[in-house]
Amino acid sequence: MSSNDQSSPAVRPWESAQPLAAGHTGAATGVNICVVGGGFVGLVAAAGFAQFGHNVVCVEKNLERLAQLKESRVPFFERDLEELLRRNTEAGRLSFSSDLKEAIVGQKVIFLAVGTPSLDNGRTDLSALVEIVNLLGKVAEDGQIVVLKSTVPVGTGIWLQKKFPQNGNGSRSISVVNNPEFLREGSAVYDFFYPQRIVVGGDNQAAVEFVANLYRVGMTRPVPIVTTNNETAEMIKYAANAFLAMKVGFINEVAGLCDLVGIDVLEIARGIGMDPRIGAEFLNPGPGWGGSCFRKDLREFSGLAKAHDYPLIIAEAVLKANQRQHELVAAKIERLTGSLEKARIGVLGLSFKAGTSDMRDSPAIPIVQRLLEKGAEVVAYDPQAHTEAEHYLPTIELAENAVEAARDADCLVILTEWEEFQALDLRSISEVMRKPNLVDARNLLTPEVVRRYGLTYEGMGQK
Ligand code: UGA
Repeated sequence: MSSNDQSSPAVRPWESAQPLAAGHTGAATGVNICVVGGGFVGLVAAAGFAQFGHNVVCVEKNLERLAQLKESRVPFFERDLEELLRRNTEAGRLSFSSDLKEAIVGQKVIFLAVGTPSLDNGRTDLSALVEIVNLLGKVAEDGQIVVLKSTVPVGTGIWLQKKFPQNGNGSRSISVVNNPEFLREGSAVYDFFYPQRIVVGGDNQAAVEFVANLYRVGMTRPVPIVTTNNETAEMIKYAANAFLAMKVGFINEVAGLCDLVGIDVLEIARGIGMDPRIGAEFLNPGPGWGGSCFRKDLREFSGLAKAHDYPLIIAEAVLKANQRQHELVAAKIERLTGSLEKARIGVLGLSFKAGTSDMRDSPAIPIVQRLLEKGAEVVAYDPQAHTEAEHYLPTIELAENAVEAARDADCLVILTEWEEFQALDLRSISEVMRKPNLVDARNLLTPEVVRRYGLTYEGMGQK
């Protein structure tokens, strides 16, 4: 089962019958916040802070996206986000603008949530951030707090602080604070309201406390807040993502060995996960981790270390092991079909995990590409990611549902752990397939049940 299952909110914070803390009921706090960037991170933060009762203006420079946001339409799939946006826009606590200069007037806190993608060399492209910072350097007001919400290389906070006046000329003082996000796509709204911890780093203690309090007023239960300096906050984020990727990579590697020696990896995961030093989460083997963050952050982390002449051996191995995982999944499919030349492969799931339409760095991309290279024909179905698929895998066929993806296929492969794939119509699937092979790269199904329908089943590290 996927790690996403434990994330399902039993009670949505804004719908609870229980009386909630001030922030969750949206009682006005009088704090003015500007969030720069209407992407995944910016929107969740903007809507979440508005729900806490703060007045939020979110700046988005893409005019098409801005028009959508003004109508509370989110241009990607993220559970509960659209509703949260709509409620807070209607309550008058959340608005959208494209004019950064105008939007920051009178704000106490400015969150920067713009993209920080990878450059070809693995280091981070800060150009979007630099553009905004150059403007802020000129127009930011005395006493404003600029918060780096985007994942930024270690040292960015200190660099930024130096770019802003600090009462040196007797005029303005602007503080820079790092507040990295730990939101998982697919459960980001839940994670915002129920975080494991909040990290706030900066040199100005008053500014750090102010940002920490933005959360404290809204939380319905106490949340540990780690207050530290800028560079530590920055490195916490990289170390966290590197560790999570390593954990998934580790169980994937063990699953590969289990395949060879005939042991069930799920029992191994259970047996080791009960040790609190290891922990049960993030031990679900799969087709390899993906998403916009793990690879990008591992590469930046390694790049930083290399620049200090200290290669990160483990982080680099995690990247390499993940590539092998893609190859292993493709090899399983090839083994079952005999040859991939002219084979028809049905793929269920294209997004990098369930609950999101995001295909950035999805394991589906290298796996499908490998199948195509070897002469296979691929037909895929994903409940949310077809628009993305047209961009990332333009040559594949897209099916309307799982049974259609299985029609005439020589092998059906589950790559994303969407809930609907747990309840596949196996009877119809087995009837329409050319050869009855199923590779379950998420260990979503029960092998005995699948075999009852005459299908050959192969999971990841399942006996
Ligand atoms: C990750 C982190 O979990 C967040 O804390 C962080 O804020 C975020 O990156 C970020 O830096 O923005 P996310 O990329 O949304 O969040 O996804 P995860 O839930 O962490 O999953 C990452 C990948 O690992 C997915 O492909 C998922 O399918 C895979 N995974 C995860 C497994 O294969 N097995 C597991 O047991 C867990």
